[in-house]
Amino acid sequence: MTTVLVANGPNLGRLGSREPEKYGTTTLDEIAALCMQWGSEHGLEAVVRQTDDEAELVHWMHRAVDDGWHVVLNPAAFTHYSYALRDACALVTGAGLTLMEIHLTNPHAREEFRHTSVISGVATGVIAGLGVDSYRLALDAIGSRA
Ligand code: DQA
Repeated sequence: MTTVLVANGPNLGRLGSREPEKYGTTTLDEIAALCMQWGSEHGLEAVVRQTDDEAELVHWMHRAVDDGWHVVLNPAAFTHYSYALRDACALVTGAGLTLMEIHLTNPHAREEFRHTSVISGVATGVIAGLGVDSYRLALDAIGSRA
């Protein structure tokens, strides 16, 4: 079975109570359950993880390469400044795997510092601004490519 790592960056463990007017009220546990369901509809196994730690996220990208896992990544604030994560994501797409960068909100409609993504240039595609549906559409994209 094709496996997809659904990796979530800093502060996304707080979804549900974190700025609900921006991010909604769905918790990360609920998103994880939805991703597993949406993935299974495409014959994909979704492995959902969250970390506040940049090094751990980088390590997960390395493991995705080694294990041949596609990636759905919400890099959260690392989107805007983590060159280390960008380089790790480049390894994923460089290995021929799909990496979908996703965001719940549309960063381009928010503060100036969010308008830059250092990840997008090495991602296969980007989906932003659709709330929890951003995860679903990313899994749909991987399902149709896998
Ligand atoms: C986010 C957008 C980022 O700018 C922010 O730092 C996040 C969440 C989103 O899903 O909309 O933590 O990635």
